[in-house]
Amino acid sequence: MKTSLFSFTLLLTLQYSLAQPPAQSPAPSGPTNITGILEKAGQFNTFLRLLKSTQEVDQINTQLNNSNQGVTLFAPPDNAFATLKSGTLNFLTDQQKVELVQFHVLPSFISIAQFQTVSNPLRTQAGNANNGQFPLNVTTSGTQVNVTTGVVDTTVANIIYTDGNLAIYQVNKVLLPLEIFGDPAPANAPKPQKGSSTRSSADSPSDDSSDDTSSATGLIKQAASFVVLAAIGIFYL
Ligand SMILES: *[C@@H]1O[C@H](CO)[C@@H](O)[C@H](O)[C@H]1NC(C)=O
Ligand SMILES: *[C@@H]1O[C@H](CO)[C@@H](O)[C@H](O)[C@H]1NC(C)=O
Ligand SMILES: *[C@@H]1O[C@H](CO)[C@@H](O)[C@H](O)[C@H]1NC(C)=O
Ligand SMILES: *[C@@H]1O[C@H](CO)[C@@H](O)[C@H](O)[C@H]1NC(C)=O
Repeated sequence: MKTSLFSFTLLLTLQYSLAQPPAQSPAPSGPTNITGILEKAGQFNTFLRLLKSTQEVDQINTQLNNSNQGVTLFAPPDNAFATLKSGTLNFLTDQQKVELVQFHVLPSFISIAQFQTVSNPLRTQAGNANNGQFPLNVTTSGTQVNVTTGVVDTTVANIIYTDGNLAIYQVNKVLLPLEIFGDPAPANAPKPQKGSSTRSSADSPSDDSSDDTSSATGLIKQAASFVVLAAIGIFYL
């Protein structure tokens, strides 16, 4: 009884401390907060979730704080993700998810006007270091900036944020890198996922059967953790 009371107290304490943000001195003029900007802009929930789950948001924030090159971010809105073939994201390995997100990040600040003079291909944050992996190209006409990856062509639709150090541009489509979504070339085909070695050479990223399975598994996992949480709750009542 004592033990369980102790555990109960511990649980309460734990919940309490989890609910309390760590005390911080107010730092209103701190580094730019990408999460805050995108949340405020709205319509970027999927991209935000990817930025967080891949921890790329931390990397960008660190980069903004520590380099004077700045950062340029192409942000596809939720409806751009919604038009992807079903299962496109689920099909990716964790590593490929990181690469997909990093493909939307350029490791320097580029204003709309500067796009007119950059030389293709542009280096993105994806791939290892400076070896030109995961490039994308831009073409401009006046202030119109088109982006092409070799898989998708899209346009900068909107300037969400710019301050000379960070630029966030809305693009109408998710930038799918050729390295992941292009035709698998013999030399640099994407690493096959387990169980998908029979994937045809079609570049279709959605293997619906496996996708359905994985999302079903996800649901079951969620349901299972809910049951466990509920059971813990009942136990302590
Ligand atoms: C950034 O803004 C978000 C949403 O407003 C907030 O939850 C988060 O704590 C902020 N992060 C930093 C480092 O200020
Ligand atoms: C930002 O940079 C300063 C100076 O380089 C460093 O002291 C600080 O810890 C950095 N903050 C973050 C959040 O990276
Ligand atoms: C940009 O894309 C649009 C739509 O595909 C096209 O009409 C326009 O000519 C392109 N502009 C440039 C500069 O590539
Ligand atoms: C990007 O531009 C480079 C240099 O002009 C060119 O070699 C390459 O084929 C272009 N790639 C795409 C996908 O447009």
